[in-house]
Amino acid sequence: MDSATGRSGALPGPAANAGGGEPPLLEVTGVAAGYRREAVVHGISLCVEHGSAALVIGPNGSGKSTFVKAVTGELPLLAGSVRLRGVDVSRWPEERRTAAGVGYVPQVRDVFSGLTVEENLEMGGYRVPRHALREHIGQVVDTFPTLKPLLHRRAGHLSGGQRKLLGVARALVPQPELVILDEPTANLSPRIASTVLDEAVSALCAQGRGVLLIEQRVAVALDRASTVLVLVDGRPRHSGPAAALRGKVDLGHLFFGRDAAPSAERDADPAQVAAEP
Ligand SMILES: Nc1ncnc2c1ncn2[C@@H]1O[C@H](COP(=O)(O)OP(=O)(O)OP(=O)(O)O)[C@@H](O)[C@H]1O
Ligand SMILES: [Mg+2]
Repeated sequence: MDSATGRSGALPGPAANAGGGEPPLLEVTGVAAGYRREAVVHGISLCVEHGSAALVIGPNGSGKSTFVKAVTGELPLLAGSVRLRGVDVSRWPEERRTAAGVGYVPQVRDVFSGLTVEENLEMGGYRVPRHALREHIGQVVDTFPTLKPLLHRRAGHLSGGQRKLLGVARALVPQPELVILDEPTANLSPRIASTVLDEAVSALCAQGRGVLLIEQRVAVALDRASTVLVLVDGRPRHSGPAAALRGKVDLGHLFFGRDAAPSAERDADPAQVAAEP
């Protein structure tokens, strides 16, 4: 075990891949997943490189959360494979993937309301060796300075934005290499959402980590992502560089193949697009 990070060390370091070029941090190929052995997502492939973010967008119910649960190991794969730094982890349980460097901030239930901010961070670092925990928490608080004056406040008394930041911060205490964020800005104002995305996505990429981001605020998320995957009815509708979609996303066209939908310039919410007659 790595004494600094508390990780199992199950994944090879970059040196182990010397000569063949470093494989992507995350490589998902042809994944199908769902519930009670019935697939709701099919044929999904994407890569996340170190220092970059991959964005997944799609209408409500299109399978975005189901897909990331298959990546974390919360749901079993029904087809395809998941590789972390070239290692096939498709059959690894969630705990083992977490130990190998996967951090996950779920769409709901991301913090313990009855505990303080500091206690939540300690819970996030339950795998981190005691001697390293303070240092890890200190680094996370440096990344999210908003949390510094709040360390002794109960999570249940935080604002929505502070709570979201805590959810992300908690997942970062073990210093994951890959951070999976499922709608980290849901129900936040546009200004606070931008702050969360800056602190949670741009800052992590700058640290060399990889981010797999599900986000409804397509325009601001595209600005921070390298690649984008559009999921519709559980299947990939589009995938490619995020730059190609910046400033010209017509979500109605992208999601449903029709025109005259709100543009991402207006930070459109796909839920509203879906609700249109
Ligand atoms: N635990 C579950 N058991 C059975 N079906 C489920 C379960 N969770 C989700 N589903 C179904 O799987 C489909 C995809 O749901 P999922 O939550 O992955 O969509 P999503 O794209 O994340 O939606 P949203 O944008 O609303 O978060 C939906 O039809 C949903 O009803
Ligand atoms: Mg979801």
